[in-house]
Amino acid sequence: MAEKELIETDRLTIRRFRNDDWGDLHEYLSNAEVVRFEPYDVFSEEDCRNEAARRSSDKAFWAVCLKEDNKLIGNIYFNRQEPDEFSNWEIGYVFNPEYWGKGYAAESCRAIIDYGFRELNARRVVAMCNPENTRSWRLLERLGMRREGHLVKNIYFKRDEHGEPIWNDTYEYAILAEEWLDYSS
Ligand SMILES: CC(C)(COP(=O)(O)OP(=O)(O)OC[C@H]1O[C@@H](n2cnc3c(N)ncnc32)[C@H](O)[C@@H]1OP(=O)(O)O)[C@@H](O)C(=O)NCCC(=O)NCCS
Repeated sequence: MAEKELIETDRLTIRRFRNDDWGDLHEYLSNAEVVRFEPYDVFSEEDCRNEAARRSSDKAFWAVCLKEDNKLIGNIYFNRQEPDEFSNWEIGYVFNPEYWGKGYAAESCRAIIDYGFRELNARRVVAMCNPENTRSWRLLERLGMRREGHLVKNIYFKRDEHGEPIWNDTYEYAILAEEWLDYSS
């Protein structure tokens, strides 16, 4: 089946990135609260120009836009993990805080996961998040995903003022195709 370039939900258009998305991207990737749990720091305008261009040819990244005014309000990462034959796909998401608390992340993630299971032959969708990122794991539970693991101090993304790694715990979540198709039918 051909890969989709566009997915529509009630309120949202989910599409490929374009070079001119950098301004909307900058609105949220320049916010320290937004990138707090991400493996990167805040983005400058120039970083966002480069990132929008890079994402425009990276099929793992989806731009989530409001139907009413085409505003880009967030992004989803959805990518097959190696080895390919396991058909495990990872999902991630980052949204503009102006648009949190409206169900947009859930609506778009649900559509992407559904696309993955129904059309990309995904067998299992997984997600990872920091236990302190309550909004993130509540979203995963809203999507019907199961918490399968709590890894203790397994990873660091950032260092403290002395240059020492800040070790973080990780929750691992997953859902299988058969569970999703039962749950969403
Ligand atoms: C994680 C993140 C995407 C969650 O966003 P969110 O807006 O809380 O998630 P949802 O789309 O599921 O919205 C749920 C909220 O919308 C509310 N809501 C309002 N209208 C709604 C509607 N029509 N439909 C569904 N929910 C609606 C829900 O009641 C819920 O409110 P609550 O948070 O007060 O319980 C967001 O916090 C984010 O971008 N964080 C920064 C990046 C990040 O940490 N990413 C994850 C790294 S692992």
